Amino acid sequence: MKPLAAPRGKSGGPQAPPPRHVAIIMDGNGRWAKARFLPRIAGHKQGVEAVRRVSRAARKLGIEVLTLYAFSSENWRRPEEEVRDLMGLLRHFLGSELDELVSEGVKLRVIGDWRRLSPDLVAMIDGAIARTVNNPGPTLVIALNYGAQAEILAAARTLAEQARDGTLDPAAIDEARFEATLETADLPPLDLLIRTSGEQRLSNFLLWQAAYAELLFVDTLWPDFDEETLEQAIDQFGRRQRRFGGL
Ligand code: IPE
Ligand code: IPE
Ligand code: MG
Repeated sequence: MKPLAAPRGKSGGPQAPPPRHVAIIMDGNGRWAKARFLPRIAGHKQGVEAVRRVSRAARKLGIEVLTLYAFSSENWRRPEEEVRDLMGLLRHFLGSELDELVSEGVKLRVIGDWRRLSPDLVAMIDGAIARTVNNPGPTLVIALNYGAQAEILAAARTLAEQARDGTLDPAAIDEARFEATLETADLPPLDLLIRTSGEQRLSNFLLWQAAYAELLFVDTLWPDFDEETLEQAIDQFGRRQRRFGGL
């Protein structure tokens, strides 16, 4: 029997199925505050509200994995006071949001060098992950003190050590093996990577994983991002034609 025709995308190709894994570079908090003559921390506070809203919306839309870039390994270059404020907001978010994540069955994951954050935060994160580890999902991944180049280097180092110890044949290092050594191993492939605030760069986020992700740059500042903006992004994704090098 002839299979049913797949829905056609705008460009005539098959329409992409809904994204399983969406990642967001949450940018523009500072500019949101500046436009209102407010201190940058006010923008970060509204940014946390957007995180709550958008993670709820993602669950409603059936997105399996939502990965949020919360603090990059380069963000330490910011003034000490801002870094302190951001860490304070993270504490607040974990404290206030965890019960809902647990009751909604969300599995929390954290990627990046988060074990180098302050000991109280590390303990909080450890506790939060432990409380959700047996949840069925969806998965909320928070990238904290994350840098993709460091992630790739760590994987390379691990594989080199295995080769040195004779447990790994260098010829066996292929894409799948490398991917399985990254922090995102066992997550579905990244389908859609969104950056807010009009900037068009990846800022050291998910460089390996973005190889075939659809990229979407939106002008909306992160504190203004909501369910509707997310729906629009998913809609745009649906009209993309993913070719993966084929025709
Ligand atoms: C994103 O907003 C939040 C973090 C990087 C933690 P920004 O703080 O980068 O906001 P802009 O880019 O200055 O507007
Ligand atoms: C990227 O935003 C990092 C996060 C969103 C956590 P930045 O605002 O730090 O990126 P650059 O400095 O503009 O590249
Ligand atoms: Mg920024």
